[in-house]
Amino acid sequence: MDNPPRVTDPLGWGYSLANVIELLSACLEAVPTRRVLEVGSYEGELTRDLLAWADANDASVATVDPLPPKRLLELVAERPDLDLIEDTGMAALAGLDELPDSIIIDGDHNYFTLTGELEAIAGRAGDEPFPLLMFHDAGWPHARRDTYYAPDRVPEDQRQPLAHNVGLVPGEPGVSETRGLPYEWAAATEGGAKNGVLTALEDFIAGRPDLKLAVVPAFFGFAVIYDERAPWADKVAAIVAPWDDSPILHRLESNRVDHLVRNHGLAQEVHELRVKVNEQEALLNDMLESSAFAMAERVSKLRQRGEPIFSRRRISEVLDK
Ligand SMILES: C[S@@+](CC[C@H](N)C(=O)[O-])C[C@H]1O[C@@H](n2cnc3c(N)ncnc32)[C@H](O)[C@@H]1O
Repeated sequence: MDNPPRVTDPLGWGYSLANVIELLSACLEAVPTRRVLEVGSYEGELTRDLLAWADANDASVATVDPLPPKRLLELVAERPDLDLIEDTGMAALAGLDELPDSIIIDGDHNYFTLTGELEAIAGRAGDEPFPLLMFHDAGWPHARRDTYYAPDRVPEDQRQPLAHNVGLVPGEPGVSETRGLPYEWAAATEGGAKNGVLTALEDFIAGRPDLKLAVVPAFFGFAVIYDERAPWADKVAAIVAPWDDSPILHRLESNRVDHLVRNHGLAQEVHELRVKVNEQEALLNDMLESSAFAMAERVSKLRQRGEPIFSRRRISEVLDK
């Protein structure tokens, strides 16, 4: 039997597109892709899978991140053939000599940035068919709500009103101070014009009838835009059709994010309780060491004529010493 599929960040959020690698690589093969560009690499989870795919398919990989973490730099050291562009997606796309066959966009998840990246690709494509475009975070929480890694890279009049260090909860268009998946910078309200990843994708294809959008509602939403003028369009359409807008996947994903939010809340509660217990333990340890407490215990023992109402033995038991 084949090995079971690799599980990325077990018990984590399932943040990486590596979670949909089978589907993503089938699309890459359909094109077929000789050069693939990833915008937004983070620690290189997907990049590693892309490199493995490229090795087997005589292709090359470039990846873009303005803030490459240590693990990504280690991957670059391991794989000198990986082209790391330390810049924003918009700048990297504008600086390319020619468009790659396939582009995966998973950088800053807001309307302004994604639209800028898409327009840069459109400008380069001119009258030719677009490359295959794939995206992450076309589902909750980013579908209809901007988030920002660096809000100052987005002009203030192109930005949603911001909320800082807040929680996002499915079905709640506002933000929470106490619950939800945490985001440093998010639009204060979900929905409305020019807000979110899916809104940007829909607006981009709206005036371009050759472009088709499919959204796979799994792992925060995997989206594909393919150009019907491209010779590979039918193959990509056939690959994504069974997954596109699948009601079963919608249900699974909604169940998954509800559990993520709940687990995140529980983990936070456990953390707060741990802090409190640590304080209580420190106080009890101080009492155990205290000569004043020892004296009080002796006085209590005399008054009670037997086991005192408080004792160092009892404290040691509670502390499990
Ligand atoms: C969600 S992570 C990418 C995960 C990765 N693609 C995967 O599937 O494993 C998003 C990354 O985008 C980067 N990023 C933020 N703003 C960006 C921008 N304007 N252009 C490109 N990348 C950006 C962040 O530094 C972060 O590492």
